[in-house]
Amino acid sequence: MSKLLINTYNKKATINKNIYGHFSEHLGRCIYGGLYVGENSDIPNVNGMRTDVVEALKAIKIPVLRWPGGCFADEYHWKDGIGPKESRKKMINTHWGGVVEDNSFGTHEFMELCRQLGCEPYINGNVGSGSVREMSEWMEYMTFDGLSPMAKLREENGHKEPWKVKYFGVGNENWGCGGNMRPEYYADLYRRFATYVRNYGENRVYKIACGPNVDDYHWTEAVMRAAGRHTNAISLHYYVHPRGWAEKGPSIDFDDKEYYITIAKAVYMDTLIKNHLGIMDRYDPMHRVGLVIDEWGAWYTCEPGTNPGFLYQQNTMRDAIVAAYTLNIFNSHADRVVMANLAQIVNVIQSVILTEGDKMLLTPTYHVFDLYKAHQDAVLLDSWLETEEIGRARMGEHPFAPEITCPNLSASASEKDGVITVTISNASLTETYPVDCSFVGKSGEAVTGRILASARANDHNTFDEPELVKIKPFDAFRLDGESLRFDIPPCSVMEITVK
Ligand code: AHR
Repeated sequence: MSKLLINTYNKKATINKNIYGHFSEHLGRCIYGGLYVGENSDIPNVNGMRTDVVEALKAIKIPVLRWPGGCFADEYHWKDGIGPKESRKKMINTHWGGVVEDNSFGTHEFMELCRQLGCEPYINGNVGSGSVREMSEWMEYMTFDGLSPMAKLREENGHKEPWKVKYFGVGNENWGCGGNMRPEYYADLYRRFATYVRNYGENRVYKIACGPNVDDYHWTEAVMRAAGRHTNAISLHYYVHPRGWAEKGPSIDFDDKEYYITIAKAVYMDTLIKNHLGIMDRYDPMHRVGLVIDEWGAWYTCEPGTNPGFLYQQNTMRDAIVAAYTLNIFNSHADRVVMANLAQIVNVIQSVILTEGDKMLLTPTYHVFDLYKAHQDAVLLDSWLETEEIGRARMGEHPFAPEITCPNLSASASEKDGVITVTISNASLTETYPVDCSFVGKSGEAVTGRILASARANDHNTFDEPELVKIKPFDAFRLDGESLRFDIPPCSVMEITVK
């Protein structure tokens, strides 16, 4: 019997709904074909945005969307994507597959997408190859309400009213595709660029500095030291590659050993967050600077026969467990993790949606975001879960590389409007665990449950069988006052609601 204790008297931080955020890049079929098909498409759309995709994303309450990249952002000039579509520049997307980028999706289209989704835009500016003036004018174009050259240009392009842009990233991966900079150099550039990302009118910009890649602690140290006082948040990027960066590993045909390595590598996120926060604390003891994990997910070898630059991969129950464990980790750091953005929203890396022509399917990862949506803006409750080790992974080749263990279970609990939501996941491929969940300070009267489970970890949805993996109701609970007992099956994710 595994014990789960939830102390409803010990309320922790509010879980920022932006932890359930997403990321969209001009990469493969994420924007073109996935989110945007254009006004003249036969695929049902509103102002060019796919109706099926928008409706599905609204159902999981997507709170924030990052755009236009990624590496694409550090070569993007926003002026290429405004004005009459027929006169927008056509160019090669050098980063991603060498395909033609016709710039038909630009600032106006992104803002329209966010309007339809009801989410906050998170714009990522270009430090790698752009200028301070370009970045400054982009903000002026989007948010200035008054007489100015950029506000006039926006009006000429059909949008008199300014938009609200709260989240702005000053550069992306400037340690790599964003300019191969040293952190000391980037930190100085950050200070310079960020100075001219202005607050216009009521709009208040929350500036996000480019943070480290995985365990590059020197980057965090140097950027916090030189630029910590000038930023609202710093980002972190971490992807899970079962076999490593070069070979990665297949998205469907993995064996049990590779499955457990993948989940253990996902659990490494907790170590990374703790270590980077520890460094940030030295420069920011009052915890003013937030941590934004604006790229995360399991990244595999792309599907055979697809453009390797498109990063298209399938999504199985393994990905559902990766998402469930990772989102529980983010919840547990609700006091400092202010946003996270899964890479990427449609058709790229660990997507919540896949499309093929006019067809669309929801991935197992989508269903996890559905099961977890009640955590958005809820108060994290103190919880303790009894676990055992079921797998481990070494994080790199170095003899001192850390070894991460994979626990059999992962959970988090939150409360909103008197309702407690518990999300719990079982990563074991073979064992069903009886769970004894005790609520201190709450006698449940009504319990409901939903579960995502499938016979094999490799199970996934296809366009021929789009509902093989889906959420089902779960009601096999034994409720006795403050104690709730149930059995959690192998390779599953559950949402339990207690009123
Ligand atoms: O998400 C794909 C790529 O991964 C992004 O463009 C880049 O920021 C990261 O390296």
